[in-house]
Amino acid sequence: MSLSQFTARLDAFASEFEAFLETLFLARPAEGEIARPARLLEAMRYASLAGGKRLRPFLVAESAKLFSVPREQALMTGAALECVHCYSLAHDDLPAMDDDAMRRGRPALHKAFDEATAILAGDSLLTFAFDLLARPQTHPDSAVRIALVAELARAAGLGGMAGGQMLDLAAEGRFGQPALDESGVVTLQRMKTGALLRFAGIAGGILGQADATRRAALSRFGEAFGAAFQIADDLLDVEGDAATIGKAVGKDAASGKATLVGLLGVEGARERLLQRVGEAHAALAPFGKAGETLRLAADYAATRKL
Ligand code: IPE
Ligand code: IPE
Ligand code: MG
Ligand code: MG
Ligand code: MG
Repeated sequence: MSLSQFTARLDAFASEFEAFLETLFLARPAEGEIARPARLLEAMRYASLAGGKRLRPFLVAESAKLFSVPREQALMTGAALECVHCYSLAHDDLPAMDDDAMRRGRPALHKAFDEATAILAGDSLLTFAFDLLARPQTHPDSAVRIALVAELARAAGLGGMAGGQMLDLAAEGRFGQPALDESGVVTLQRMKTGALLRFAGIAGGILGQADATRRAALSRFGEAFGAAFQIADDLLDVEGDAATIGKAVGKDAASGKATLVGLLGVEGARERLLQRVGEAHAALAPFGKAGETLRLAADYAATRKL
């Protein structure tokens, strides 16, 4: 498969996935829900239904294929992960955080609605993720569902994405902390971006009840992929085209963000990016030919223009 065939496959997946996610929002109130405020549901849909690359649920679906996991289980798990991701973007763009007006080529959630609605839509997307993971369609075995809940909760929270966002803001110097060195930036990025992408890698192994060796391989893949993905994001902030990526560029240096591009320069960061892609490829060795799509996903993460 060539990289352009890969991109076509990712696009096709994105359409299938969005249609699936849409059905999850259309369902009638679940048992235990009292009512669904229309404005909040609209804001959740706005934040999650248009424009994203859907790379995280795609990785879930591809890792699930390695273990012949039924499609619906992979899509449910991917939907939960994408809801956490979309919440993280909605909150990341808020004035109190990165203060960004554009996301996925249109006004950020708090611009299209208002800040309070954007905060609540983020809260509701985060909790919806765990509602989805708890449902029997996600996996018939409740022990597997609990394992997914535990992994996603840890990837999203204090020791994962939210913690990484804290370190990201602190590294701007807002709270008087000193600047980060390279290992500090690596840790920050492992948390804010790497943790959710690691979940994307291991989710298929959890659903497929893979052995420890294969789970460890997927974990190494997800970690390396996550590191590569954020370096690419930071390079796009310097070299990318705002119209193509659908969000502002040139903001990281201006707001004092700690990035590897800032510490090592564009060429140094690109070198690190290629190292991480090499690690992602190496991690897939146990899967042989079956790992080809995940291998290409790492190439895509490094070369993407959006
Ligand atoms: C952007 O993620 C935020 C980062 C963690 C770098 P994506 O580049 O995956 O954004 P979408 O989902 O495609 O919009
Ligand atoms: C995003 O990092 C990490 C998240 C957890 C959302 P950025 O702040 O660099 O992401 P963009 O560039 O706004 O998409
Ligand atoms: Mg940010
Ligand atoms: Mg941001
Ligand atoms: Mg960025």
